[in-house]
Amino acid sequence: MTSEIRSVSLPGGERIPALGQGTWEMGEQRARRAAEIDALRCGVELGMTLIDTAEMYGDGATESLLGEALAGLRDKVFLVSKVYPYNASRRGVIAACERSLKRLKTDRLDLYLLHWRGSVPLAETVDGFEALRRAGKIRHWGVSNFDTGDMEELVAIPGGDACVTNQILYNVARRGPEFDLLPWLAGRGIPAMAYSPVDHARLPKRSPLDDIADARGISVFQVALAWVLGQPNVCAIPKAARVEHVRDNHRASHLVLEAGELAALDAYFKPPRGKRALEML
Ligand SMILES: NC(=O)c1ccc[n+]([C@@H]2O[C@H](COP(=O)([O-])OP(=O)(O)OC[C@H]3O[C@@H](n4cnc5c(N)ncnc54)[C@H](OP(=O)(O)O)[C@@H]3O)[C@@H](O)[C@H]2O)c1
Repeated sequence: MTSEIRSVSLPGGERIPALGQGTWEMGEQRARRAAEIDALRCGVELGMTLIDTAEMYGDGATESLLGEALAGLRDKVFLVSKVYPYNASRRGVIAACERSLKRLKTDRLDLYLLHWRGSVPLAETVDGFEALRRAGKIRHWGVSNFDTGDMEELVAIPGGDACVTNQILYNVARRGPEFDLLPWLAGRGIPAMAYSPVDHARLPKRSPLDDIADARGISVFQVALAWVLGQPNVCAIPKAARVEHVRDNHRASHLVLEAGELAALDAYFKPPRGKRALEML
């Protein structure tokens, strides 16, 4: 099953699945815990082994849920977590990482991201990330919610070019990054990690997504996800707290939208014709 999902290359050549799983808002309600764990484990078994979380989610509760959900599966997973900007000083990032590792019941993260840019100088955060990498606590590091100018600043500082991804809000309804940020990343071989790939379930009520979904007998979520997964150099981390949604998302990774369908989506969700500031959720 694993080999069926397309993969994306990190700088350096390691490959990660183009379709992963998000976890925001999971682990916050006891009544939903068992279903969330089933959903995450089902996704891993289907090959959606890229899993994204953050210390922010549920104030650590989401990482703790993952610690439980990934029991016996840790080595199959490419595990990503994120540090709050206000914890991202050289020493702060190390302490935050140790706390995340404990909650996640693991000895290393595959990827650690700065959640968004704050007031700590980037050079300090990079120093902290590099210290964590040397200590084997993280295998790679990257950033999130960085616009093109932020990326340029980052790669200009010593060690900044070791960044392996930028996790950004990107989906068919929010195409701003196509103008300059996605080309900038592609030019440096840095994949974008698209968060909210089905727009946090806030896609328009009626759009060509519905026409395509109706014609194919699938859901608008699957069409929207297939659209993101059709973009080069992009991986996507939809959050699905139900097994049926996870299975639908997995099926969407095999859908290839046709030229006419893509044209209808372009006509409605217009690609950017100029710079738009990067949106954040
Ligand atoms: N770096 C950042 O600043 C940032 C910001 C936002 C998100 N993220 C990450 O990206 C992940 C995904 O983004 P997101 O959670 O905002 O939004 P999303 O994945 O676009 O949407 C999640 C919503 O869509 C529903 N859904 C997913 N697949 C579905 C399907 N096949 N059929 C029907 N409904 C479906 C989910 O329902 P159910 O849960 O009921 O299945 C949930 O309500 C997050 O969980 C988080 O890990 C990062």
